[in-house]
Amino acid sequence: METYQDEAISITPRDVQFDWDDLSLHYIEGQPIATHITNVMHITLPEGERAMVQALSDALPLVNDDRLRDEMIGFIGQEEIHSTSHEDLHDHLDRQGLDTGPIVRKLEWLVDRAFNRPNLRGRARHAWLCERLALSAALEHYTAVMGQWVLDADALDGAVHPVMLDLIRWHGAEEVEHRNVAFDAYMYVDGGYFRRARTGVMASFLLLGIFAWATAHLYRNDPTRGEQRFWPFQLVDGIRKGLIPSGAHFFTEIPTYLRRDFHPSQMGPLDKALRYLAQSPAAQAAAAH
Ligand SMILES: [Fe+2]
Ligand SMILES: [Fe+2]
Repeated sequence: METYQDEAISITPRDVQFDWDDLSLHYIEGQPIATHITNVMHITLPEGERAMVQALSDALPLVNDDRLRDEMIGFIGQEEIHSTSHEDLHDHLDRQGLDTGPIVRKLEWLVDRAFNRPNLRGRARHAWLCERLALSAALEHYTAVMGQWVLDADALDGAVHPVMLDLIRWHGAEEVEHRNVAFDAYMYVDGGYFRRARTGVMASFLLLGIFAWATAHLYRNDPTRGEQRFWPFQLVDGIRKGLIPSGAHFFTEIPTYLRRDFHPSQMGPLDKALRYLAQSPAAQAAAAH
């Protein structure tokens, strides 16, 4: 068992609400592709987050460390609110013609095939739990990287609808806040390097594939596609203006995550995330009621 004591913050869910009534089709002004890349998060995150909640819930009875247990319970609460907050947008996106249903249904199928194996017993069941925890730790590495990116991306201010910006920065900040939890849960329950490395590489390619596939689907369904510039020009423009991260993140993060002594707390200070959570309109409103 590995212990880690340096970053002992308390992790609490914030019961946020968002109002999407006046959200336009391209809520990143003049940037359809950057908007759809952001939409991919709304569509794909809920399934992934629910699978991680299930993995950490299944691991809880095995954890006797009080601090880690508290963090896991906080993590589960935060991820449950993340998944419903993104899901609340699906109807709005559907009304705009983007047809999120096929992506959601395929992801449900994929997650069900990959994560649900109710018939396993004994050692096989435990090994399967370790596998799900390792995959959760790897996915959480990417959500923390993306979370830090949205907190640092000053270009988003003024370019993104303010309620949407609050959603992605609140979520990103909580991802940074709880970045250690799935990793620590995996290290406590299993801790094997080979499993962590293998699932780390798998998660990178899985995410890249899902992003490309889902963005293409949304772009094809965009009712204004005929009036837009060819998508690679939009993509380059969005990256150049700092409105979306470059795909290089997927590859540069692999060697970092594969280091034997890697721990998420090495990813830098938490200051910006905690400061944002103290200022976020949705988090403030949640704290007030
Ligand atoms: Fe999340
Ligand atoms: Fe997370």
